[in-house]
Amino acid sequence: MTDTPARKPRKSSAPRDGTPQVHGSATVTDTTLGRYCEVKERVLIRSSELGDYSYVERHSELIYTTTGKFCAIAADVRLNALNHPVERVSQHKFTYRPNEYFTGKKLDKAFRDSRLNQGRVVLGHDVWVGHGAIVLPGVKVGTGAVIGAGSVVTSDVEPYAIVAGVSARFMRWRFAPGTAQRLMKLAWWDWSHERLSEAVDDMQTLTAEQFCDKHDGGIEV
Ligand SMILES: CC(C)(COP(=O)(O)OP(=O)(O)OC[C@H]1O[C@@H](n2cnc3c(N)ncnc32)[C@H](O)[C@@H]1OP(=O)(O)O)[C@@H](O)C(=O)NCCC(=O)NCCS
Repeated sequence: MTDTPARKPRKSSAPRDGTPQVHGSATVTDTTLGRYCEVKERVLIRSSELGDYSYVERHSELIYTTTGKFCAIAADVRLNALNHPVERVSQHKFTYRPNEYFTGKKLDKAFRDSRLNQGRVVLGHDVWVGHGAIVLPGVKVGTGAVIGAGSVVTSDVEPYAIVAGVSARFMRWRFAPGTAQRLMKLAWWDWSHERLSEAVDDMQTLTAEQFCDKHDGGIEV
């Protein structure tokens, strides 16, 4: 992981060296980016962690979000659309960022910390977030899950579930019963780059069940 992603996007299709790539028009602050991460045009990421190989497409916005490895975040996505304090007399930001308006007033740190900690959005590994989806504060999305295009995700999503709609509802599982557990046990996302390179052909041609048969050595789940 690195705090200082600096590389410009590559021009060729040759393999990269693993340095995270951030487009010049993107804004990334207080964030750690894993190896092979990509952040595309006009993305905004604040106070977040992006696991190895995860990427964020154009115009998306992540705040107070932790993603696992190999997450694919489509364009125009919003991970953690923050809530305003609706219970206060005014829900305008001047109540929690009075420093921006009044001399001698300080940022409401308690409010900021509750957004930063309890309100954190967490994605597991290998999560695909479809175009334009919005994930609300505090939502946990399990490994392998799919969020349909245009969804508003208001509650936690089970591993390997496909959810969609406003608000997002369970549609179906990605795999037959038992396969998700085998994949979680296999944890291919923790494999070395070299091992992934050897396995990627099998990922193209084998079903998830066949892939587990070949690569999990018959481990019990
Ligand atoms: C969620 C998704 C993966 C589901 O694909 P699928 O399993 O092939 O689903 P189907 O097309 O068979 O649709 C099944 C039902 O869900 C509905 N549905 C599918 N996607 C939906 C979505 N994003 N929001 C609301 N409903 C959706 C369909 O209308 C259909 O409803 P019906 O049974 O009443 O007719 C896909 O629809 C999707 O949203 N993909 C995201 C594409 C994207 O954002 N790409 C960006 C580039 S990375």
